Amino acid sequence: MHDHNSIEARSASQSVSHAARAESRPAGPAAAAETARIAAALAAAIVTLGTPAWIALRAPHLAGDESRAESASAPAPLRAPATLAETGLYSDAASLTVRADAFEFAPQYPLWTDGAAKRRWIWLPPGESIDASDADAWRFPVGTKLWKEFAFERRVETRYMELGADGEWLYATYVWSPEESQATLAPEYGLRNAYLLDGGARHDIPGRMDCLACHAASATPVLGFSGLQLSGDRDPLAPHAQAPSPELIDLDDLISRGLVRNLPDTLSARLPRIAARSPQERAALGYLHGNCGGCHNSSGPLAQLGLDLAYSLEHGSRVASTAVGAPARYRSANTPELRIAPGAPHESLLIQRMSTRDPLLAMPALGSAKVDEAALELLREWIAADPAAPALAAHRTARR
Ligand code: HEC
Ligand code: HEC
Repeated sequence: MHDHNSIEARSASQSVSHAARAESRPAGPAAAAETARIAAALAAAIVTLGTPAWIALRAPHLAGDESRAESASAPAPLRAPATLAETGLYSDAASLTVRADAFEFAPQYPLWTDGAAKRRWIWLPPGESIDASDADAWRFPVGTKLWKEFAFERRVETRYMELGADGEWLYATYVWSPEESQATLAPEYGLRNAYLLDGGARHDIPGRMDCLACHAASATPVLGFSGLQLSGDRDPLAPHAQAPSPELIDLDDLISRGLVRNLPDTLSARLPRIAARSPQERAALGYLHGNCGGCHNSSGPLAQLGLDLAYSLEHGSRVASTAVGAPARYRSANTPELRIAPGAPHESLLIQRMSTRDPLLAMPALGSAKVDEAALELLREWIAADPAAPALAAHRTARR
């Protein structure tokens, strides 16, 4: 019965996708098919849902309009430096020594990127701190810099975000030379097949629109540096998580160094933690938060899809009310009817969409070339154990 929606969304998606390719990137490499697909899917989903206005309001980049109203007094937007060294990550670029006042961190629920080893750093301007009054969407001081390095057998790219005086985040990524001596700015539209992974899959360097698809679709652009992600009460079952170590900064360190302010009492008193009935459910909800919640949440452009996979320290999980036993919005002949069918992983659309890298179905829609088998196993087990809606819903206000 949802077939109509499905066809509408997919065909709209295709036409927007062609338009995007023809209009906004004549000189870009044909590379951006994936980018165009997700942008188009986002646009199509929302257009289908009847609120096209968000495209112009919240995501002019997806509407293909990069121009921004600039008044004479407005600070100039940041420009990405030509090399990683110029972003200021290293105190000595020749030996790749990271500056001493950048803190390394590791979110407890990391994003799956085909098994890449990742390192991340944050730098805050001296004397500045983070406003944590919204527990789910910290506000960072102007000048904040964040880096994320991706390595397979060697360093491949380092992604970079910086908050400009105009209130806009800069997104850029730097591609490492094969001998890892230096990294230079990647093209605006990314770089397809930048690195050959074992098993024949290829790593694509994302373009700026890809960054925005994931980072500009929720209440905060910073996805891995948050109260939940940096909690010292780490989830031992979280897939692909880095082991905690004293070199990594966590929430307690931030509090004791005075780097976060206005933290709600509930969070400073007890370490943030996902409320769940079982260790497995805690990890499943955490995985969905880290890997899907950036797009599937209740505040961003995709909110009207009514699928909230983000975990809120304020409201808890909405997975029970928006996914468990909930009918799929987009369906075709052979897709499951329910987003999550309690007790039946093989009848759950969420599992189906995570099990494929077919560009028309894959979830996440971009950012990886290989299916995350470890996460699938966790989610299948959790769904098989029957994530009954009432029990999960009871977590909403629960805090431990
Ligand atoms: C598939 C979605 C996705 C895409 C595409 C993506 N990111 Fe991210 N990024 C994430 C998530 C989720 C995290 C937090 C989890 C983690 O680091 O493992 C993150 C973390 C980061 C961080 C560390 C700060 C933070 O938000 O936690 C930086 C810097 C970053 N990304 C930059 C970029 C840039 C620049 C691009 C584009 C060139 C990009 N990302 C593309 C999802 C994405
Ligand atoms: C970059 C943004 C993005 C990320 C990240 C993302 N999704 Fe999606 N997702 C979408 C868009 C856009 C749609 C609607 C278009 C479509 O169906 O492809 C969608 C649709 C879905 C649907 C179908 C909903 C329905 O009712 O028809 C499911 C299920 C889903 N996503 C699950 C996930 C899961 C699970 C993850 C994480 C493992 C994830 N998504 C990550 C953008 C994203």
